[in-house]
Parts: sequence; structure tokens; C-alpha cells
Amino acid sequence: MEKIKEALAKAKLINNRTEPKPAVKPQVINTKNIDTLDVNQLDINQIEYNSTKVVPLNPGHLEKNRVITYNSNDQTNVVFDLLRTQVLRIMEENNWRTIAVVSPTPESGKTFTAINLAISIAKQPTKTAMLVDFDFRSPRVATYLGLKVDKSLNDYLDGNEIIENIIVNPGISKLVVLPTLRSIKKPAELIGSAKVRGLINELSSKYKSRIVIFDLPPVLNADDAMVMMPMVDCVLLVVANGMSSKTEIEDTLHHIPKEKLLGIVMNKAEIEQKAYYY
Ligand SMILES: Nc1ncnc2c1ncn2[C@@H]1O[C@H](COP(=O)(O)OP(=O)(O)OP(=O)(O)O)[C@@H](O)[C@H]1O
Ligand SMILES: [Mg+2]
Repeated sequence: MEKIKEALAKAKLINNRTEPKPAVKPQVINTKNIDTLDVNQLDINQIEYNSTKVVPLNPGHLEKNRVITYNSNDQTNVVFDLLRTQVLRIMEENNWRTIAVVSPTPESGKTFTAINLAISIAKQPTKTAMLVDFDFRSPRVATYLGLKVDKSLNDYLDGNEIIENIIVNPGISKLVVLPTLRSIKKPAELIGSAKVRGLINELSSKYKSRIVIFDLPPVLNADDAMVMMPMVDCVLLVVANGMSSKTEIEDTLHHIPKEKLLGIVMNKAEIEQKAYYY
């Protein structure tokens, strides 16, 4: 934990609240030392999208919404490829498949990170990715992706749809999305329910090669992330430059089980800022 504090301090993240720099430069701090990525032959070929609805995305909309990994020519992709490599290496070593993306406070870039990481993982040859919008307070995945669907997790949770009819392939090979279209009352209770527990188990156990990424609300604003963390393998913390105080970051780290901390993404970092890896 000392290392993390040191890193945060070095990276000058712990400023007073100022306007975030508009730079797109997330960086990750590893919290574990992993040297090798052992990718076994996986079950990718078993995954078929024959029955999954395909909804192609609009490149212009994606660019406006900072889905930078969609365009392979965008140089900023490199940042997410690096993040993906680090994330997959640690997950592989620990046999982890599910990630909760959290932040101390709102607007830190959780959804931005979750979407771009999911696309970047899907582009990697040995993995598939599933992106699940579990921010039942402020669902944004479908909006950022411009995903034109009428069925969502809302219908599944209301008992009106089966999950297979909600899973959508956004025209990107090896990526599927479970969108949420409307906010939900009492989301923490819902996340803790037997139905949602069962869903998480089903999603994570179906395919060995699938990485499931859950986009969540901020840790300090609601119980949702806290209820969710015991149900996922690991937690990726997104901290936006100048948007969370030192106390807020420390409080958040306190809530994340130490053994589950996958890494810290320093988002909205200044372009010229150096990366710190641990
Ligand atoms: N690295 C970045 N550079 C520039 N803008 C960014 C960056 N990361 C995120 N943003 C923008 O900041 C805004 C908030 O990002 P996002 O919605 O991903 O945050 P969030 O943590 O999911 O917020 P919430 O807590 O409301 O769910 C969005 O407009 C997003 O495009
Ligand atoms: Mg969000």
C-alpha cells in the first residue's frame, strides 16, 4: 500500500480540485510483479455470435465519445494496448476473469476506461471481452458507444427477457456488450440479490477465455461498488488527475480488498507527464 501512496504522490495526482486537463493519457500502476504471460490455447473458437444480435457502431459518434480504441490508426491506442497487456498478464497469473472498474468520485473516466479496455482486449488474439454496464445509477456504456438497442439489462432484471436476447455484438469481433438503458432504484440491493449473483457467475464461468468487465458507479458515492467487489476477481481503480482528493483516494483504497487490486489507472494525466510503473 505504501508503494501505491508513493506512486500517487509522485504522479502529483493529489492536487486540490482543479479542472481536469483534457489530455487523453491514462496510465496504469501495477501493484503486482508479474514477469510472464502464459496464454494457453483457449476456447475462443467455441464462441459463436450466430445467435447474438450484431449492432454496428458509428465511427464519428465513437470518436466524439472518446472511444479511441475503435480506430486502429489512432496513436493514443498504444496507451490502452499497454494497459491491456498489463491487465491480462496479472489476470492470467491469478486465473482471474472478472474486473470491476471503479473510481473514488464521479467523472473519473471509469466508463471511458472500461469501454476502451474491453475493445483493446477483444483485439488481442487470445481473449474475448464482455463489457457489462453495472452502473445502475448512471448507465452510459450504450450512450458512449451509440448502441442502438431496445433491450437491456433492465428487461432481464425485470424478468421480461433472457440474457441471450440482451447480449449484443457491436460489430467488433470478439466483443459483446450487456447494456443498461435506464437507471434503477436501490441498485446496491439489486447487485446483492441472488439473481444478479447468479448472473455474474454465469457470465464469468461460461468461457475460459472471456474477460468480463463491469462498469460501476464511484466507490464513495454509493454502496454498489462495495457490494460488487466481493463478487469479482479483481478491481481496476481509475483516478482522474485533480478530481479526487488524497483522502478520497485513500478511503477508496481502503474499501478495495488488497489482494483484488489489479492496478490504478491515472486518467486525464498531462501529456508530458511520465508514467510510473510498479
Ligand atoms: N483521459 C481522458 N481525457 C479526456 N477526457 C476524458 C478522459 N477520460 C474520460 N474523459 C471524459 O470525461 C467524462 C467523464 O468520463 P466517464 O463518463 O468515463 O467517467 P465516469 O467515471 O464513468 O463517470 P461517472 O462516475 O459519472 O460514471 C466523459 O466526457 C469522458 O469522455
Ligand atoms: Mg461511468
